[in-house]
Amino acid sequence: MSELPVYVLNGPNLNTLGTRRPEVYGRATLADVEANVRARAQTYGLDVVFEQSNWEGQIVEWIQQARTEACAIVINPAALTHYSVAIHDALEMCEMPIVEVHISNVHRRESFRHTSFVSPQATAVIAGAGILGYELGVDVVAQHLGLR
Ligand code: DQA
Repeated sequence: MSELPVYVLNGPNLNTLGTRRPEVYGRATLADVEANVRARAQTYGLDVVFEQSNWEGQIVEWIQQARTEACAIVINPAALTHYSVAIHDALEMCEMPIVEVHISNVHRRESFRHTSFVSPQATAVIAGAGILGYELGVDVVAQHLGLR
């Protein structure tokens, strides 16, 4: 059991889940994602800090905080995935499991979504599993922490 929580971080526009392009992202809201993640984490005795921001700098701050305050990071950086050197560099400093999650299969979409500045820092990458990807992210974290 880890004393420190898993940080689950969400980037720009993910606050609009449920109404944003449901044919791509589904009808579940970010609150639904949070409830699912908390339930899954609880099965491993893990606490969760669940955050969303439309601001790159805020995400960078949470990643920096995670260095001492988290046991792992599950992150859907959303559009920032595809261009944020700042998020790449912040994650580079984190010595813990990092799981990159995308609700949609970014590789089947526009070519600008095929580049990730996050994947080189990620322990695992999950894309196209819908919001289940977040729970799978927690499973991966638990495996790396020796909890399953
Ligand atoms: C996303 C995919 C990104 O390309 C996009 O900018 C998002 C969401 C996903 O979860 O599928 O905002 O990260």
